[in-house]
Amino acid sequence: MVEVATSILNIDREKAIRTLYDLEYAKTDYFHIDVMDGKFVKKDTSSMMREYCEYLNSISNLPLDVHLMVEDVESYIDSYLIYEPNILTFHYEACKKKEQVLEYIKYIKERNCRVGITLNPDTPIEEIYEFLPYVHMALIMTVVPGEGGQKMIDSTIDKIKKVKEYCVKNEIDIDIEADGGITLENAPKVREAGANILVAGKTIVSSKDYAKTILELKNA
Ligand code: DX5
Ligand code: ZN
Repeated sequence: MVEVATSILNIDREKAIRTLYDLEYAKTDYFHIDVMDGKFVKKDTSSMMREYCEYLNSISNLPLDVHLMVEDVESYIDSYLIYEPNILTFHYEACKKKEQVLEYIKYIKERNCRVGITLNPDTPIEEIYEFLPYVHMALIMTVVPGEGGQKMIDSTIDKIKKVKEYCVKNEIDIDIEADGGITLENAPKVREAGANILVAGKTIVSSKDYAKTILELKNA
């Protein structure tokens, strides 16, 4: 069984509170918060995601899985820590040099928050191996970051396989999360490749029965 993190990037803003409540009731394991700054990726979702985190802090105890698609990682860490996220994940490509990756990991941990690292589909998985012993999760982007509702890039499945093998071989016990274009059809092969957390936005939010879809993903 895998865990499911529902991406709330494309929920109907007019019905946000109702939708968030329904997703919690439908037993999503996490709310996946897609923070975009309009620089690292074209879209700027930061104020909308802060609004949703405010709601979630008052209506739900479910963990927040915050995905930072931002250039100025440190300032967004500070601004989202106030929502007491379960994990803050930043992009390897947002770091100007390798030392900065470790600096951000330390910065997040010093603030008593779990930390994840993620990378774009075209960044070789080997680039993050050296950091895996120091994080709680590797988030493997299975689409180019910046939009919901995209089709999965099939070649990213190999990256999930490789990072899983590397973790097993090196006895690194971390979560592996797959993010982008996850459907009921491709979820089984994503799980088999080694992901234990699946992020899904469109597959869940556009479905008629959130609970049924989430359960099917969990049993993929
Ligand atoms: C894309 C985001 C993903 C995306 C997932 O930049 O990081 O979390 O919103 O949504 P779907 O499942 O619709 O691809
Ligand atoms: Zn995401």
